[in-house]
Amino acid sequence: MVSTLPLQHSINQAQIRSDIRNLQPQLVTWRRRLHQYPELGFKEQLTAEFVAERLQEWGIEFQAGIAQTGLVATITGAQPGPVLAIRADMDALPIQEENQVPYKSRHDGIMHACGHDGHTAIALGTAYYLAQHRHALKGIVKLIFQPAEEGPGGAKPMIEAGVLTNPNVDAIIGLHLWNNLPLGTVGVRTGALMAAVEQFECKIFGQGGHGAIPHQTVDPIVVSAQIVNALQSIVSRNVDPIQSAVVTIGSLHAGHTHNVIPGQAVMQGTVRYFSPSYDGFFPQRIEQIIAGICQSYGARYELNYYSLYPVLINDPRMAELVRSVAETVIETAAGVVPECQTMGGEDMAFFLQQVPGCYFFLGSANPEQNLAYPHHHPRFDFDETALAMGVELFVRCVERFS
Ligand code: NI
Repeated sequence: MVSTLPLQHSINQAQIRSDIRNLQPQLVTWRRRLHQYPELGFKEQLTAEFVAERLQEWGIEFQAGIAQTGLVATITGAQPGPVLAIRADMDALPIQEENQVPYKSRHDGIMHACGHDGHTAIALGTAYYLAQHRHALKGIVKLIFQPAEEGPGGAKPMIEAGVLTNPNVDAIIGLHLWNNLPLGTVGVRTGALMAAVEQFECKIFGQGGHGAIPHQTVDPIVVSAQIVNALQSIVSRNVDPIQSAVVTIGSLHAGHTHNVIPGQAVMQGTVRYFSPSYDGFFPQRIEQIIAGICQSYGARYELNYYSLYPVLINDPRMAELVRSVAETVIETAAGVVPECQTMGGEDMAFFLQQVPGCYFFLGSANPEQNLAYPHHHPRFDFDETALAMGVELFVRCVERFS
C-alpha cells in the first residue's frame, strides 16, 4: 500500500529550521573537537573514528576504510526515491596554527586551515537530522566523508572504490565554507566554478664554473630567468583573452654563493584554467618554450608535468536547485552570489565528472569578529554560525531533490 503519511515535515519549513538551529551547539562541539586533532591526507584515523562513532551511535549504516580513511554512510528513507550523495572532505594542512583559541590544534605543525573540520561537522549534522527524519525522507542519501582533498586527492580513489554505485548515485552536492564571502551568503553558479590544477617541475642542466669566467660555463640561472619570463607570455599571448588562466612559478632554486655559476637550477610551477578546451595545451606549450630556450643557450632540461584536478563543472539543473534552496535559507536573493569563480582547485571535480551535481561556497567570513583570514593562513578561522546554515542547505537540497 502506498503510504499516505501527510508530509508535514517537508511542509513545515519553520520546524526544519528550528530543529537544525537546535543542533548548533553540537555542531560547534564536533567542529572544535575535529579542529583540535587535525590530520593530513590519508592519515585521518582519529577523524574517521570520530565520524564512525557518531554514525554508530545514531544507528546509521556505514562503511569505513574506503580509500584508506574514507567513509560512506547510507540513509534510506521510508519512501522510495532518487539517490543523492553529499560529499565532505576531512583532511587538514601542514601549517602551524597561530590562533590563540581554546580549540587550537594539538597536533604540532598540522592545522585545519581550510575549514574541512567544518565540512565534516556539517555532514555529520546532516546525517543526524536525516536519520531522525527517515520517515519523511524519500529515496536514499549517501554521505561521503572523503580523505586527502588537499592532496594527493581522495575523490578519485573513492570513486574507484565504488562509492557512487550500489546503489547508483543520481546526483551529488558538496560545499566549501568560504572566507572570501561574508557570512549570510552562498556562492553558486552553473558551469565552471573552480579551475583545473596542473603542476610541473623543471630541472635545467648547464655547465658550472667560476663566476668571473662565465664564457667557460652554461649558466642555468640566466637560462632559468629567460624561461620564467617567457612562460608569462603563454597567458598573455597564447590563451584566448576571453578565457582565464594562470601560470605561476612558485619556486626557483640554483646556486649557493656569489662567485660560482652552478651546474643546475630547479623550478616548480602551477597552472590553472577554466575551460576544458585547454586540457593538454599547457604542458605542450610550456615544454616548447623550455626546449627552445635551452637549445639556444646550450642547456639541457628535464620536465615533469602532472595534471592534478580537472575543471570543476556544476550541472545547470543541480546548480539551479542549490540556488533556489539558498534563497530560502539565506532569505534574500541578494545573499546568493553568482560571481564566485576561483582559480583554486578541488577534487570534488572528479565526482562531478561522474554524476551531475553542484559544488557551492557557503560564506563564512566575519571581519568584525576577526574571522576573515584567507584559507590556508595560520590564523584562518570562520564564523561557526555557518555550520547550521550548511546543514539546513543540505537538508533542504535533499528535500527538494526527492
Ligand atoms: Ni578546502
